[in-house]
Amino acid sequence: MQPITTKLVKWYDSHHRILPWRISPSDRFHGQIPDPYRIWLSEIMLQQTTVEAVKPYFNNFTRKWPTVASLAAASQDDVLRAWAGLGYYSRARNLKKCADIVSNDYDGRFPSDVTALKALPGIGDYTAAAIASIAFDIPVAVVDGNVERVITRLYAITPALPLAKPVIRTAMQELTPSKHPGDFAQAMMDLGATICTPKRPACVICPVNDNCQALKTSDPELFPVKSPKKEKPIRIGAAFVAVSPGNEVFLQSRVETGLLGGMAQVPTTAWTARTDGDTQIEAAPFAGQWAAVGSITHVFTHFELRLSVYKANSVSTSSGADGWWVKVENLHGEALPTVMKKAIAAAIPDAFAKRRKLE
Ligand code: ADE
Repeated sequence: MQPITTKLVKWYDSHHRILPWRISPSDRFHGQIPDPYRIWLSEIMLQQTTVEAVKPYFNNFTRKWPTVASLAAASQDDVLRAWAGLGYYSRARNLKKCADIVSNDYDGRFPSDVTALKALPGIGDYTAAAIASIAFDIPVAVVDGNVERVITRLYAITPALPLAKPVIRTAMQELTPSKHPGDFAQAMMDLGATICTPKRPACVICPVNDNCQALKTSDPELFPVKSPKKEKPIRIGAAFVAVSPGNEVFLQSRVETGLLGGMAQVPTTAWTARTDGDTQIEAAPFAGQWAAVGSITHVFTHFELRLSVYKANSVSTSSGADGWWVKVENLHGEALPTVMKKAIAAAIPDAFAKRRKLE
C-alpha cells in the first residue's frame, strides 16, 4: 500500500463519520456486512446533496421500504412524495425503475460488477464505482467532488477541471487498496468533507499533510483549479395559489418528463426567458380575486427562476378540473418540490411551519 493509503485507512478507522448506511471497520470486525440496497439508496440520494440533508430522507425511506423488493412494490407517486424536497427528481424516477429491474431481473440482488451496475437506471460512473467498492469490495477508483479536491491538492494538479479528470482518476486508482477499497474511498470523502474542505482546510490536523504538494509549494485553497463559471440565465413566470373556503389549495401534476417531472405544483405560467412573458394576472388558471402577494426565486442547475406569486381566496373547489384540492395542513404529504413550497409559503406563510413532534 502507498504511504498515503496506509495513513488514510488508519485515520478512517478512528475518525470516520457515523452514517446510517455505513458499516464502520469495527462493525465489520464484529461480523456486519454492508447491504447493497442501503449503499445504493444512499449513493443515489447523496448525488448533488449533502450528507446532513440526506440522513432524514434515508431513514424515512428505509423505514418505509427496508428492501429493494419493498421499494419495487411501492407506487411511483409514493416514492416521489417521500423524495419531495431532495431535488433533482429524475433521480427518484430512476430509483424506482432501478428497484423494479433489480427486483424482477436480478432476484432482488444488486449485481456486483461495475459494468452491470452502470447499465441500471440512474447509476453512472461515480455511483457504480461507489457501490462496487463499498458494497462488494471491488478496488475501483471512486471519484466524487471531495475526492477531486483531495487528489488535486495532494499532487498539486494544475490543469483546470474538467480537463484534469483523467489524471485524478488515475491517481485515485493507484491509491486504491485491494483490501477494503470502500473504506479507502469513504476515507477520502470524509477527509474532503471534514478537513480538506473547499475553504479554510484544516491542514494542521490532516493525516496526510506531509504528503500534500499543494501545502508544500502553494496554497491548498487554490485547488482544484476551475475554469471560469458561466452566469446562469434568468427565467421568469407567475405562480397561482388558489385557496378554497375550506382552506384547501389547488394542486396539479407536472408532466412526467423533464424538469420536476411527475411532481406536484400550483398552477404556473410557462417559465420564460422573455421579460415580456406571461407573468401577469391575466395568465391565472381560473377566475378569482387574484392579488399579488410577493415573489420568490429558486436556483436550478441551468437557470435561476423568479416567480411572481398570486393568491385568490374563496375559490370554489369546482374550479380547475385538471388537479386536486388539498387541505393546507396536509400539504407536507404532497410531492411538492422546494420551488413550489416557496411559492405556496409566499401566499400562506405558515403552510410549512415546523410540525410539532408528538411527545
Ligand atoms: N458522499 C457520497 N457518498 C458518501 C459516502 N459513502 N460517505 C460519505 N460521503 C459520501
